[in-house]
Amino acid sequence: MSKCILLVSLFLGLHPITISSRCLDSQISSLLSFKNDLKFDSKVSTKLVSWDDGRDCCDWWGVTCDEAGHLTTLYLDEEGIHGEISSSHLRSLNSLKVLSFGYNLLSNFPESLLTLPSLQSLYLSNNKFSGPISKHIRVASYNLSLLDLSNNSFQGPLPEFIFKLPSISTLKLARNNFTGSVHLDVFGKFLNLYELDLSYNNLTVISNTKESSSFSSLAKLDTLRLVSCKMLKIPNLKNQASLRTLDLEDNRFKDEIPNWIWNVGNRSLVVLILSKNKFTSLEKPYTFPSSLRDLHISSNKLKGDIPVPPSEIEGVSFSNNRFGSSLPADFGNALTLAVSFTISNSKVTGVIPDSINKASGLRFLDLSSNSLTGPIPLDGRLRDLEKLDLSINKLSGRIPEELTSIYSLEFLNVSYNRLSGKIPQGGVRFPTFTSLSFVGNKGLCGPPLSKTCGTGN
Ligand SMILES: *[C@@H]1O[C@H](CO)[C@@H](O)[C@H](O)[C@H]1NC(C)=O
Ligand SMILES: *[C@@H]1O[C@H](CO)[C@@H](O)[C@H](O)[C@H]1NC(C)=O
Ligand SMILES: *[C@@H]1O[C@H](CO)[C@@H](O)[C@H](O)[C@H]1NC(C)=O
Ligand SMILES: *[C@@H]1O[C@H](CO)[C@@H](O)[C@H](O)[C@H]1NC(C)=O
Ligand SMILES: *[C@@H]1O[C@H](CO)[C@@H](O)[C@H](O)[C@H]1NC(C)=O
Ligand SMILES: *[C@@H]1O[C@H](CO)[C@@H](O)[C@H](O)[C@H]1NC(C)=O
Repeated sequence: MSKCILLVSLFLGLHPITISSRCLDSQISSLLSFKNDLKFDSKVSTKLVSWDDGRDCCDWWGVTCDEAGHLTTLYLDEEGIHGEISSSHLRSLNSLKVLSFGYNLLSNFPESLLTLPSLQSLYLSNNKFSGPISKHIRVASYNLSLLDLSNNSFQGPLPEFIFKLPSISTLKLARNNFTGSVHLDVFGKFLNLYELDLSYNNLTVISNTKESSSFSSLAKLDTLRLVSCKMLKIPNLKNQASLRTLDLEDNRFKDEIPNWIWNVGNRSLVVLILSKNKFTSLEKPYTFPSSLRDLHISSNKLKGDIPVPPSEIEGVSFSNNRFGSSLPADFGNALTLAVSFTISNSKVTGVIPDSINKASGLRFLDLSSNSLTGPIPLDGRLRDLEKLDLSINKLSGRIPEELTSIYSLEFLNVSYNRLSGKIPQGGVRFPTFTSLSFVGNKGLCGPPLSKTCGTGN
């Protein structure tokens, strides 16, 4: 019988269910004392309010035990917890590995939690922490590998205790008010570093452009996010073999996007975000890695040829540049899996290539505020389109009837072009568009515009 359950479980890819190992009495009393000391909003709480000493504490909401019944995780996100959290009642729970207090209203940094010896993950994002973190924090959690302090209002320099966490692999400090400057190399000693996010603070991150820098060869780094870090030079990442996500939006890079960047992560980069810098061109020759799914280079000063993304791309934003060139005729062939393509306000000339119809998964297409000429070539194959913005160009001819058959089309803007003829009236969506979708085309007529069509239309 039990063999049978085991086999079925294996077949389903589940862990065999062990009939409840009993929660130890000492754990129950520690948890209840911990709860009694907590201030939380019982109207918001779904987990703490349901803790009930009549039941096995391993079954309490927000509590997880290992197979032997030792408590391993306390997951108390979104419980309306305010006031202080102290480690005093948790100290006896020496198998506790994961503590999660995200999305609460905590305002005093619970530094004593860092003295819990087995702690591996500490989530404190989205609380109300503010002010600088003490320089004198004692750390005993040498196994702490994940620390998430994102989206609070911490101030002052980066806390010193983070540099005493030799096992750290995920460090998220984004969306605070940390100030001062920090050299990327200081993170080079964290040999397990997997994800680093310092974005949206008031930090100045100094990068080492030398290949020999300690940061440049972190073997496990998968995700690096340094948005708005006032960086002047792209850090040297040539030796990063595992990097998949690189987000360097809103820094102070200029001139060429170096061509080595496409080889980062041993040509396995999945997400690259270089928007809001001052790049003027892509260093040649370059070949995009086929692994790339998201390429965001909007709001730069890119000039010249519009790069053709690799064929499995999903998200492309090229808006707010100065290309001064046309979309290559086969551009749409590269977008067959794309969900979003935006290239507004980028001095794009020439016609919209017919190949755009091959981008049949597109939901967002924004070609607005350019100098596009010729007809709207869409023939209705873009069946998932939700937003189509072709406004402020020099497009001519009729609005294709085929657009009326796109049921998902929630937003259309063809204003300020040179379109003519009767506005299509069919379908479910077209009757919902107001004149704001069509204004500024002298030759267009029919509802929702007030101009009536003559017999010639
Ligand atoms: C830290 O992790 C190692 C390896 O997983 C383990 O052997 C050791 O017991 C842990 N130390 C503590 C204090 O939990
Ligand atoms: C950050 O917190 C604010 C409220 O404090 C919230 O509105 C916002 O959605 C959060 N942002 C992220 C990215 O979590
Ligand atoms: C950061 O500090 C500035 C100036 O003191 C303040 O206006 C802003 O609200 C703070 N932001 C956060 C996320 O705490
Ligand atoms: C950012 O930090 C600088 C000092 O490094 C300070 O003058 C400035 O007010 C800070 N800005 C914000 C928004 O906190
Ligand atoms: C890079 O990728 C190639 C081909 O996939 C592989 O043979 C090589 O071992 C990889 N190099 C590193 C450093 O991971
Ligand atoms: C279309 O774009 C024009 C020009 O930017 C704008 O005035 C108009 O409000 C937009 N229409 C809609 C429906 O947003």
